[in-house]
Amino acid sequence: MAHKLKITQFNTIQKVRKLTYKNNGRIIHNQNRPLPPVDNLRHPNRRLRRTSYYIKSKGVNLSNTEFDSVLTARGCPYNCKFCTFNINPLGQKRNYSARTPESVVEEIKSLDAGVIFFSDDNFFTNFKRSQRLCDLIIEQGINKKFIAQARLEIFKSPAMLRKAEKAGFKIMLIGVESPHDRILKQLDKGFTSKDIREAFKVLRNYAFYYHCYFIYGNIGESEEEMLYIPLFAKEIGADSISFMRLQVRKFSPLKEIIEKTPGYYLSPGGFVYSDRYSIDDLHRIKKDIKRAFYTPYQLYKIIRKLCRIKFITLVDIFVFIPRFPALLYRLIAREIEKKRRKRKKSDNKK
Ligand SMILES: C[S@@+](CC[C@H](N)C(=O)[O-])C[C@H]1O[C@@H](n2cnc3c(N)ncnc32)[C@H](O)[C@@H]1O
Ligand code: SF4
Repeated sequence: MAHKLKITQFNTIQKVRKLTYKNNGRIIHNQNRPLPPVDNLRHPNRRLRRTSYYIKSKGVNLSNTEFDSVLTARGCPYNCKFCTFNINPLGQKRNYSARTPESVVEEIKSLDAGVIFFSDDNFFTNFKRSQRLCDLIIEQGINKKFIAQARLEIFKSPAMLRKAEKAGFKIMLIGVESPHDRILKQLDKGFTSKDIREAFKVLRNYAFYYHCYFIYGNIGESEEEMLYIPLFAKEIGADSISFMRLQVRKFSPLKEIIEKTPGYYLSPGGFVYSDRYSIDDLHRIKKDIKRAFYTPYQLYKIIRKLCRIKFITLVDIFVFIPRFPALLYRLIAREIEKKRRKRKKSDNKK
């Protein structure tokens, strides 16, 4: 097979969108074809699945209520520097494209699940559309619990938040990222620590459970600054947090920045580390953040909040109690295995 294309062939092939080909030893990706409007896509027929899904931890079902996920929009209109969720596998930005509230409600109604996770990167992007969706859920008497990823800016629409409460939204997953203005600016997050404090002053008035995402190990971030994350999270009223080490994924603009910053490096998995904080140091700091936030009192507060907002009921608690030993056993086994692997790694280094 000839690898060098004739000029006429090349001119035609160049125009075919989404085509990848080899010419003269070089791999060429043509421009992507625009994606069809999301409303033209049929939603999956979940009845063809062999199994039902439940919220699990370490393989243990935490409740008997079925769980499912629904995608109501593609892409995200924001441009946070670390985030590649809205970039397609060819490195092109996925334009934000949302389904009509009517089509989303039709899909929700077809589901058996009592808990639904909206897997959009940013569910409440268009406040007007979100309100319409809540109105439809309320009008049609749909009785389900919803979990959604949302940006902090939701606090600006009290009317939407009231409707979301009434429609059954229970858990909001919000990217706070950092308590420090310098880092929020570096990440191009689009808000300051003052904005975060003000937003949560409003958000605390609603019956939602707030899970906040934080990123640690940012460029120039000191250990003291990283350890401020749990204190700040408690101050703003986060119910739970996750803290991810800064990761540079494919097509991330952060790659060039890290490469140009003296003393900063990328691990094979794309995680950032530095001369100042090695991977082991960052691992130790992560444990300290976890220990400082997840105190026994905080765990008690989490359960109390989930009960108060009626995400879990007495029935869920009675279902969970006999499963607790299995969960505890798996958690302990995981910790023992982690320690064993760490010991093996350090023995191999010697
Ligand atoms: C879908 S977003 C959160 C919800 C919402 N879109 C927002 O920005 O508030 C998911 C979270 O994953 C984390 N994340 C995404 N890309 C990351 C990266 N490259 N390194 C570390 N954490 C990252 C961030 O904490 C981000 O807030
Ligand atoms: S972090 Fe959230 S808001 Fe920022 S680009 Fe990613 S999905 Fe969008």
